[in-house]
Amino acid sequence: MSNDLAPFWEKTYQEEDTVTFSNQPNGTVREFEHLIGMQSKILEVGCGEGQNALYLAGKGYQVDAFDLSEHGIAKLKHRCELSKTHLNAFVADLTTYQFQQTYDMILCFGTLHFVEKNG
Ligand SMILES: C[S@@+](CC[C@H](N)C(=O)[O-])C[C@H]1O[C@@H](n2cnc3c(N)ncnc32)[C@H](O)[C@@H]1O
Repeated sequence: MSNDLAPFWEKTYQEEDTVTFSNQPNGTVREFEHLIGMQSKILEVGCGEGQNALYLAGKGYQVDAFDLSEHGIAKLKHRCELSKTHLNAFVADLTTYQFQQTYDMILCFGTLHFVEKNG
């Protein structure tokens, strides 16, 4: 993707001091977190710079999180280091992602509408 066509977050994901969307979990995560068992394995798809994934990992859940954006994942890993929070963040495309394990909960916010239909 040329820089002209890159979404705005590709720039802000590279800025350490810029919060692209939020540094807090969103309202849906807060509303439903009481239903998540402590042993739950959680996957966040299209996690961006990771406010939800980071929050849930900080609560002690086992969290995997991926995004198409290398900059987003690099920023999330940096945020994990700073906050000494462990989660498994990696670059992947949800259109080709192959599950390696099962999850108790899969989150995906503000992402599915970016996937183009083929045919
Ligand atoms: C509007 S942002 C939302 C980020 C995050 N879910 C949040 O709520 O802050 C959309 C995200 O979807 C990611 N994305 C778009 N297409 C994707 C794909 N095919 N696979 C994985 N992530 C994708 C983008 O890189 C971007 O981080």
